[in-house]
Amino acid sequence: MKKVLLSFVLLFFASIMYAQDINLLPPVKTGGKPFFEAVNERHSERLFIKREMPLQTLSNLLWVANGFNRSDRRTVPTGSNKQETELYVVCDTGVYFYDAKQHLLKFIAHGDFRIALGQPHISDNAAISVVMVADLDKASVESARFSAGYISQNIYLFAASEGLGTVARGSFLKDQLPKVLQLKQNQSVILVQPVGYLK
Ligand SMILES: Cc1cc2nc3c(=O)[nH]c(=O)nc-3n(C[C@H](O)[C@H](O)[C@H](O)COP(=O)(O)O)c2cc1C
Repeated sequence: MKKVLLSFVLLFFASIMYAQDINLLPPVKTGGKPFFEAVNERHSERLFIKREMPLQTLSNLLWVANGFNRSDRRTVPTGSNKQETELYVVCDTGVYFYDAKQHLLKFIAHGDFRIALGQPHISDNAAISVVMVADLDKASVESARFSAGYISQNIYLFAASEGLGTVARGSFLKDQLPKVLQLKQNQSVILVQPVGYLK
């Protein structure tokens, strides 16, 4: 009886621990591989080994992908500076929204929802998957596809620089993923991009 009670208590604390925002670390904006080396090494990888991504790496990755590098502008360009595309992060323990302005991960849901990402042979071993979501009240889907392309390339170059693997993915479960991310009518998933460790 005591054991059962203890497991419930542990489960309760574990769910509280995960069910909260994650304060990212300030991004490290120096170092990395020389630009030409990173471009030369950019490629898609689909086979990852399971390994957790350190918070500093995740913080750097999200900032490179779509963070603010000036007070009101980002590491990627958008038509008329509409900034219509935002990032979500899906991992084995939950779903988060990347609040780029505050540089933190806002908690959305606790649990393993990676099935909604599709292509489990890729997503299941990735440390995290970045999901690019457009606000179609701010810009057209065509513009959003351009921004997602810039974000994706930044992630590719970051991965090349850090010796990580990544692949842009247009294939995901179109009915399920918006529900998992708790998107509104005006929001649309454009691209999914897992990032993981290589053998
Ligand atoms: C818009 C877009 C969608 C893609 N969708 C997928 C996908 O669903 N699954 C996948 O394994 N690769 C996908 N890819 C990756 C391409 O297959 C890959 O970039 C291409 O084969 C060239 O290989 P490289 O990136 O190593 O140069 C996608 C790439 C782009 C740009």
